[in-house]
Amino acid sequence: METCNQFTRNLRNVRLVAHFKFKDFKPKAFSRDEILTHCTSDSLWIIIDNLVYDFTKFRTQHPGGASILEQFGGNDGTEAFVRYGHSRLAKNIMKKYLIGKVEQSNLMESLSRSHNQFQIGGGFGKSS
Ligand code: HEM
Repeated sequence: METCNQFTRNLRNVRLVAHFKFKDFKPKAFSRDEILTHCTSDSLWIIIDNLVYDFTKFRTQHPGGASILEQFGGNDGTEAFVRYGHSRLAKNIMKKYLIGKVEQSNLMESLSRSHNQFQIGGGFGKSS
């Protein structure tokens, strides 16, 4: 199966959007590799705050346009989502599309990688 490019940004255990507590929903854990295969208009998954959303149906309803969402297909859109200062309404709409979370082991792996980058490269954001 086709896999998309993974962005260099590492996943963190930090909540930028801070929206849900799981009460009745037991989130399924997806690996980064699996998430990366859902990067097309036929199946468009995006990670926000380490949670995984399926925006395939929503993409054509997004007030900011479908293509901007497609740019984040299979990847992490947290910072972009936050940067555009989305409303409470947007955060409410999102809940409907939640399908799971990123596997914990993948988070730890990226955390240690970003730590190494910081030490070697002197800053975050460099490709590994
Ligand atoms: C993942 C990265 C995302 C980016 C880069 C992005 C970008 C944008 C931009 C540029 C606008 C402004 C459109 C305009 O004023 O012409 C917008 C508006 C909006 N977006 Fe997104 N968006 C993202 C994800 C989402 C998601 C996941 C949702 C909800 C499921 C969402 C819901 C909305 C809504 C409801 C608006 C209207 C303004 C508001 O209520 O905040 N967006 N978005």
